[in-house]
Amino acid sequence: MQSEMRRKLLEIFSNSTGEFVSGQKISEKLGCSRTAVWKHIEDLRKEGYELEAVRRLGYRITKKPDKITGNEIQLGLKTMSIGRNVHFEESVLSTQKIAHRLAYDGVPEGTIVVTEEQTAGRGRLDRSWHSPKQTGVWMSLILRPNIPPSSAPQLTLLAAVGVVQGIQEITGLEPDIKWPNDILISGKKVVGILTELQAEADRINSVIIGIGINVNQNYFPEELDDIATSLYLQKGEIINRAELIQSILYKIEVLYHDYLSNGFSMVKLLWESYAISIGQKIVARTITGSISGRALGITSEGVLRLEDETGVIHLIHSADIELVKNR
Ligand code: BTN
Repeated sequence: MQSEMRRKLLEIFSNSTGEFVSGQKISEKLGCSRTAVWKHIEDLRKEGYELEAVRRLGYRITKKPDKITGNEIQLGLKTMSIGRNVHFEESVLSTQKIAHRLAYDGVPEGTIVVTEEQTAGRGRLDRSWHSPKQTGVWMSLILRPNIPPSSAPQLTLLAAVGVVQGIQEITGLEPDIKWPNDILISGKKVVGILTELQAEADRINSVIIGIGINVNQNYFPEELDDIATSLYLQKGEIINRAELIQSILYKIEVLYHDYLSNGFSMVKLLWESYAISIGQKIVARTITGSISGRALGITSEGVLRLEDETGVIHLIHSADIELVKNR
């Protein structure tokens, strides 16, 4: 089926919010014969959609395939700008790499890059990010806030809050955040966020927020098995990734608008309410060495405050955090 026809057909079903749509109505809207409508419906079935057909009532979609093409993301998306422009590719090295190029070329704020598979997914601190096919959300979001580069870490925390809220809405699970941007369920990592900048000394051109979510994996390679989990493994159900993306983008947009108008305070409060590390004993491994102590909270810039055993307070801008278990 032509992609334009497919998009229009899905839009008709999406506007009917689960109700039957008559073959007559579809043929009028698409401007084609009833036989052609029937063929298009068959094509949707071949793509993995499940449709119920009832005489005199018409058709309705009962199940969508778990796909995350641009159309799937945009149909039903409630945002004004975030995710309105989707760059989708089936397989890429890294969505961050593509987003950097697009940002440089001047795409609109809110553009997202999404893929089904990354073959060279990047994590923080030059690590790789395991991004197998059709199981996760591998996405980069381009923002262009008018803030100084030193405030950019706030956006990582904002994205983490939006992701937690989206996961809560779609799955009912209750994730925790480990500073700065790891999202955990049952102590295992389910989401990683990588924020990168295109900036001059005193102004940001664009912020590229890479979000990797383990959604429907039913196993992990041995080396990740102890530290990683997926929403599927936690919930016991396959999660629709397009709906998850839509929810997360909406939550991020609401937070982002509040942030631009009122500053960081709302995000800070929400972030602290989801953070597991605050008040706990932790070890922060930075590039210059390790510091252990108690995590006090974050500053208004999003920097971690850590009090060591001698009472000295350290400001941690970048580190790996290990929670020290109380015995
Ligand atoms: C981390 O190390 O915790 C951050 C992982 C970030 C992974 C995401 S997946 C989408 C985007 N593209 C990448 O190559 N990395 C980020």
